[in-house]
Amino acid sequence: MTRIVVVGSINMDLVTQAPRFVGPGETILGERFLTVSGGKGANQAVAAARLGAEVALVGALGDDAFGRQLRAGLAAESVQLDHVAQLADSASGTASITVAAGENQIIVVPAANARVTPAQVEGARSLIERADAVLVQMEIPLDTVEATVRLGHRLGVPVILNPAPAQQLPTDWLQLARYVTPNQHELAILLGADSAEDFRALMQRSPCPVVLTRGDDGAWYREQAEPIHQAGFAVEVVDSTGAGDTFNAALAVFLHEGLPHAVRKACAAAALSVTKLGAQGGMPTLQELNALLGRTTV
Ligand code: RIB
Repeated sequence: MTRIVVVGSINMDLVTQAPRFVGPGETILGERFLTVSGGKGANQAVAAARLGAEVALVGALGDDAFGRQLRAGLAAESVQLDHVAQLADSASGTASITVAAGENQIIVVPAANARVTPAQVEGARSLIERADAVLVQMEIPLDTVEATVRLGHRLGVPVILNPAPAQQLPTDWLQLARYVTPNQHELAILLGADSAEDFRALMQRSPCPVVLTRGDDGAWYREQAEPIHQAGFAVEVVDSTGAGDTFNAALAVFLHEGLPHAVRKACAAAALSVTKLGAQGGMPTLQELNALLGRTTV
């Protein structure tokens, strides 16, 4: 069984489905409201578990109703939670999300996620040592992200760094990640580059290998000199929230099959994830992923 460790955020997603996004000072009537489990770390953990991996999560929750609900949800998905701290004096993270015409707008309040520490990563060393891959994103403190990348590198375990939400990162430890997985906009921010610059040129300039996500256009990756394109899988989009998380999880789970196979499967898993409402709603099981791969030539 593939073993994955995820270091990242856990949020309760407060999702409003609306006919369109609101402007400043405006009030409109929404169509539906729901609270669902989310957070980039938790989403990647759940997506990897549904794809058949043994998954452990390193993170933090508040000692509140959302925290208890989120912990129960993750346990029900068979995610190992020994390294998820429960902070008595903090709220759990939340994300206020508006979904309109398949697109989303998100405001994250990190709360407990802002207190995930490098010491927690060190505490999970024995799990990381035995992992096939480690996933980390940027909704937790940067020194914890750095500690994850450095520890994975030291132990020879591939770390996939999903630089979302994006900020410019120091080259000295960015180059220690096995892959960085931004979208086009995030790649420009990550490298402190002009967002108008061609993404293939930016990929060539990155200090570590890039797997670039492009929504329904699929993904680009670079093994040798020139970036290679993997086409996207056509689906009807209900909610794109969590598509990137599903992509990253599948990339980690199937990395041992080689990058081209892993990227193809990641594109297929991400496509399935957008067909239902909620970040974790559409995340496929291994059977569902294999069914899509079996009936398409993409
Ligand atoms: O990537 C999607 C996630 O981003 C949502 O679940 C939300 O919690 C935000 O963290």
